Amino acid sequence: MIAIKKICCIGAGYVGGPTMAVIAKYCPNIQIQVVDINKERIDSWNNNDLSKLPVFEPGLPEIIKAVRGSNLHFSTNLVDAIKNADMVFISVNTPIKKSGIGAGQSSDLRWVEACARQISKIALGHTIVVEKSTLPVRTAKTIKEILFATNDNSNKEKSFSVLSNPEFLAEGTAIKDLESPDRVLIGGEDLEAMLALKDIYLNWVTDEKIIFTNLWSSELSKLSANAFLAQRISSINSISAICEVTGANIQEVANAVGRDKRIGDKFLKAGPAFGGSCFKKDILNLVYLSKYYGLDQVAEYWEKVVDINYWQKNRIYEEIVKRLFGNLFDKKIAILGFAFKANTNDTRESPAIDICKNLINEGASLLIHDYKVSEKSIAKDLSSLDVNSWEYLPNVYDVIMETDAMVILTEWDAYKKLDWERISLHVRRPFWIFDTRSILEVDKLENLGFNIWQLGNGSNIK
Ligand code: UDX
Ligand code: ADP
Repeated sequence: MIAIKKICCIGAGYVGGPTMAVIAKYCPNIQIQVVDINKERIDSWNNNDLSKLPVFEPGLPEIIKAVRGSNLHFSTNLVDAIKNADMVFISVNTPIKKSGIGAGQSSDLRWVEACARQISKIALGHTIVVEKSTLPVRTAKTIKEILFATNDNSNKEKSFSVLSNPEFLAEGTAIKDLESPDRVLIGGEDLEAMLALKDIYLNWVTDEKIIFTNLWSSELSKLSANAFLAQRISSINSISAICEVTGANIQEVANAVGRDKRIGDKFLKAGPAFGGSCFKKDILNLVYLSKYYGLDQVAEYWEKVVDINYWQKNRIYEEIVKRLFGNLFDKKIAILGFAFKANTNDTRESPAIDICKNLINEGASLLIHDYKVSEKSIAKDLSSLDVNSWEYLPNVYDVIMETDAMVILTEWDAYKKLDWERISLHVRRPFWIFDTRSILEVDKLENLGFNIWQLGNGSNIK
């Protein structure tokens, strides 16, 4: 049995950071180096002020406090970390390609490829290379080819095994998901390497939760799981629109549908469209893969899930314009929430980006609030627009002051508990609330004289 003593994780992002923190917590005898080319990010991971970690994740600061400097280290020194490691996790970004073949659909693998080349050059002895980032099916083949191109494994100095170990954590619940996963998937061909990785997880995960598959099943399972989850959201979002025109209520429908044990009640919350770094990218990867193998009907089937997602964002923006008399010039709109979901500071693919851009293009001035997203992130996401068209304010009540409407885009708990009587004294009239997360009590707000449009709520038509 290979005993892993030193791990290197390349990529200190939303996946690499929390995952390595949890491994460090449960494996005190393993030394872990998390490395990144982004020095600013590494400096934030090393910040003594734990509220400044680059990733906001409930429970993470406590773990970092306990293990950082002891068996978990963050640095930019890739060379030493790779050289010393028995196992290297690749946890770098794999966004959608912006140009060339497969643009808009397939993943841009330049960062993964760069990692494979670095590992190939620097590693010493036998190194187990683990794919952690979500990757298109058959990426392991690319990694292997690069690793073995310079090392035919007859070179006694170095040899490699490649494993796929996709991460299923969701942001906002990453620590909980890592500490008690539904399953751990290990795909590979080298049983010894697979057992070595399993041995790490056995420190806190039970045996029956650890699944061994071949490499391609592991890669495809990750894409499929995300595609199925995203499909449920597009399904419920499509029904939310039917609720609005028929007088049905999406929360009642979701509850009734989800009570069927075969369907289940998870992932049936209608919203302003799914965001996050994975869903769209993974479905588009599946679409690209299907087309590549001539499975056009399969590609079209999955493409529809993404189409509905665009449509949902767009129709919300149209509902807003319609209710504000078709004109947003000289109107101020408060945006409550910019993160793609609550309990994260991540804005990747957040529906807030497209909705805000559309509202600004329509002539509105936006006042934006979020509890964890920084002004810098919002500025990056809205960089194509005039800087005078929006403003970020850290206090939620300041954002709402003297506005014509408010749009709730992220389901932060605190938005449910706002002082509506106070708000009612300081807004322009008529005032509209657009609740795209269905978190507010409509009757209570109507009694205070607000107009309210709630996603999937058939009472919108009254
Ligand atoms: C997802 C997968 O859940 C996770 O297993 C995978 O490893 C990475 O991708 P994440 O994107 O972090 O995780 O968050 P998730 O909770 O899945 O939410 C994704 C998006 O769907 C969010 O925008 C969220 O608001 C939306 N969503 C989720 C809904 O609109 N309704 C739901 O019922 C659930
Ligand atoms: P994820 O959500 O998958 O964790 P992130 O974008 O949050 O994605 O993190 C990926 C990290 O990988 C980034 O901090 C980026 O700087 C880092 N990275 C990308 N390529 C390399 C590389 N070749 N070497 C080291 N770090 C890299």
